Amino acid sequence: MNVGVIGTGMIGTEHVRRLTSRVAGARVTAVFDVDTTRAVTVGAIAGATVHREAHDVVDDPAVDAVVIASPGDTHADLALACVAAGKPVLCEKPLATTSGAALKVVEAEVTYGRRLVQVGFMRRYDGGYRQVKAALAGGRIGDPLLVHCVHRNVSVPPTFTGDMSLTDSLVHEVDACRWLLGQEIVAATVVDVPHSPLASPELRDPRLVLLETERGIVVDAEVFVNARYGYDVRCEVVGTTGTVALDAPSTGAVALDGGRVQALAMDWQARFAQAYVDELQAWADAVRRGTAEGPSAWDGYAATAVTEAAVASRGTRMRVDLAERPSLYEGQSSP
Ligand code: NAI
Repeated sequence: MNVGVIGTGMIGTEHVRRLTSRVAGARVTAVFDVDTTRAVTVGAIAGATVHREAHDVVDDPAVDAVVIASPGDTHADLALACVAAGKPVLCEKPLATTSGAALKVVEAEVTYGRRLVQVGFMRRYDGGYRQVKAALAGGRIGDPLLVHCVHRNVSVPPTFTGDMSLTDSLVHEVDACRWLLGQEIVAATVVDVPHSPLASPELRDPRLVLLETERGIVVDAEVFVNARYGYDVRCEVVGTTGTVALDAPSTGAVALDGGRVQALAMDWQARFAQAYVDELQAWADAVRRGTAEGPSAWDGYAATAVTEAAVASRGTRMRVDLAERPSLYEGQSSP
């Protein structure tokens, strides 16, 4: 399978590396980035053609499938171009920056008649999240009542502004909880907490968000993108007879000088390294079988609708009013 990659920044570069050396049955044959120097450097990793426009990647007859890894506000238009060309696409999250734009991708895919779009919610491929999902599916903790989530980054680049802790970070918790619980989220409330003086003031960091599902389960999610000490993602589902929590991957424990220290990942690349490989492998396998199985355009739309409500919240409870779910997406909660 020949893959074209649009956007060769941090995650685009890693996706090119993974598709080149870790994913069976796929290779990168075309790349584009508005920063031509980056595109040339990253394209050389795979021996790929460097195109002059994003749409040239989509239209390249030698490209079978596309990865979109450019900034979020470019995603919806590029995903629409892929659907128009009938090409499978792995679109990094968020699918779009507004629910209206995401819904257009859903509608285009429904008109096309089969799924082509997978959204990069790679936590669904993480071993720890899969264990939580399996425990829930097996009824091991009874009925879920509430969920505690934490999403902490060491720091964020200067390009990370305003509400991106909701649209770009919280969106992962939104998708993970929708998937784990098998329910839509119907309301979001952002609770005001003191701001860290170490974060740029416009970031309003940390944030505490309450999400409510259609069957009344409440999720509290902390997003803190200047936590400094490490990259720390937690998730605990509390049920009627027990709880199930995400285990951080083992890094070994060092006992020294009267203390015991367990190292944390310092960024998402390290914490979710295997999940990204497994996500790409599953996507490539599905595309080669002519199917699409991972997080769908509907999942991307529903998650963006929730983060949009969170952005609008500013302390008040905002309802999430979703469009009617098309039958194309019925029963889709894989992997
Ligand atoms: P980045 O800023 O490192 O890279 C973005 C790249 O896109 C840059 O090289 C930039 O020159 C290029 N670019 C800008 N406009 C473009 C356009 N119109 N067409 C083509 N290329 C363009 O950002 P990063 O961290 O790699 O994020 C990219 C996307 O991936 C974002 O949507 C982000 O939310 C998502 N992401 C997803 C992660 C996940 O865990 N699934 C983790 C990190 C990022």
